[in-house]
Amino acid sequence: MKKAKHIFAFFCLKDTYKIMKGIFPIDKFNNIETPFYYYDTKVLRETLDTIKREASKYENYHVHYAIKANANNKILEIISNSGLGADCVSGGEVKAAIKAGFPADKVVFAGVGKSDKEINLALDYNISCFNVESVPELEVINELAKAKGKVANVAFRINPNVGAHTHANITTGLAENKFGISMEDMDKVIDMAKEMNNVEFVGLHFHIGSQILEMDDFVALCNRVNQLQEKLTSMRIIVKSINVGGGLGIDYSHPNRKPIPSFAEFFNTYHKHIKLYPGQKLHFELGRAVVGQCGSLISRVIYVKEGTNKKFAILDAGMTDLIRPALYQAYHKIENISSDEPMETYDVVGPICESSDVFGKAIDLNKTHRGDLIALRSAGAYGEIMASRYNCRELPIVYRRRFNLIFIGVVAITTPIILLDANILIFLPEIYKLSICLSLLMI
Ligand SMILES: Cc1ncc(COP(=O)(O)O)c(C=O)c1O
Repeated sequence: MKKAKHIFAFFCLKDTYKIMKGIFPIDKFNNIETPFYYYDTKVLRETLDTIKREASKYENYHVHYAIKANANNKILEIISNSGLGADCVSGGEVKAAIKAGFPADKVVFAGVGKSDKEINLALDYNISCFNVESVPELEVINELAKAKGKVANVAFRINPNVGAHTHANITTGLAENKFGISMEDMDKVIDMAKEMNNVEFVGLHFHIGSQILEMDDFVALCNRVNQLQEKLTSMRIIVKSINVGGGLGIDYSHPNRKPIPSFAEFFNTYHKHIKLYPGQKLHFELGRAVVGQCGSLISRVIYVKEGTNKKFAILDAGMTDLIRPALYQAYHKIENISSDEPMETYDVVGPICESSDVFGKAIDLNKTHRGDLIALRSAGAYGEIMASRYNCRELPIVYRRRFNLIFIGVVAITTPIILLDANILIFLPEIYKLSICLSLLMI
């Protein structure tokens, strides 16, 4: 009886490990050069649908995508087609947003150090709003808008001095951080803007940090916004929009169990705690929560090395492909997607000449061999976009779900038809157009 129980437990455990791993087209991966980013566009589309459904429950909620999280062309196109606006922090991001089809009147531009060139570019595109982070920046925007005979919408990014329970390097809303205008200076800046002819003060902007999972942090921000709005009403000012930034975190430990973040809880927290005036718009700028779970970095084991007290799985991907573990001690779930053998413990490291080039220490992986494929999960946000060429390495390649299936499908269907039936030649141009369109869609 005891033995039977044991066997049952073993199978459960084995199955759980199987279920807990991501589902990937491994046969196709086996023939592809590594490392590469793999984006599951189905997960992305489901995430976008959830965002739209949950945000539309509330009047005047507008969601922007923070381009900084992932500016891959195809990812941007899918997001812009879904109707989200764009939050940019550089001229390059403004360009990328416009190129991907985000309408200029849904593009906002934040950042502590906007150069004249970047401001001019954004003015030329007639973006919807500059999120201004200092007095000198306000003066320059006014000056440059004047030279172009334009009036630029400006919101003031206020540093709300609200902490967030996240990694110190990704909190942004504390007085000690470089971002935004202090609450004490808010009145002064508003008065200055009123005197200027080429800027129009339209809103307040906040962003307290990233990878925030405790809703209480957002409640603290709501309370601060309410307090500042009361102050503004006493000055007879009601702004058109409040932008509360992004910050919603994702479940890095369980990307399979929870691929879609808690958008319902997130929007509902704001709904319950923020006081908006009639007609006032509430903007969100979500990055990580939109794209984080759709991406994985796929890598191959180059060597399994026996150390003195431990085993190392040395990958062909390194911190140049995914820097978050080295930069923020960030956790990414690591899976050996080639092996179903019993678990063993490894330090999973990259090939870069830096001691910090470690993806995880004492990680349980299915017994690992040279050539096995390793998936670093939840790498869709702040992954590909932060890749570098340090050590003269090449940038990682990118694939998306459906690429091979559809492309090979179209070629497989059209080629025999073309070869076998000369009458069908008449349809050749259409067939080719279709196949070219489909392949372009997937590049
Ligand atoms: C101003 C601003 N808005 C939005 C974001 C997006 O944050 P997240 O990816 O955590 O949603 C950031 C990230 O740093 C930011 O700086």
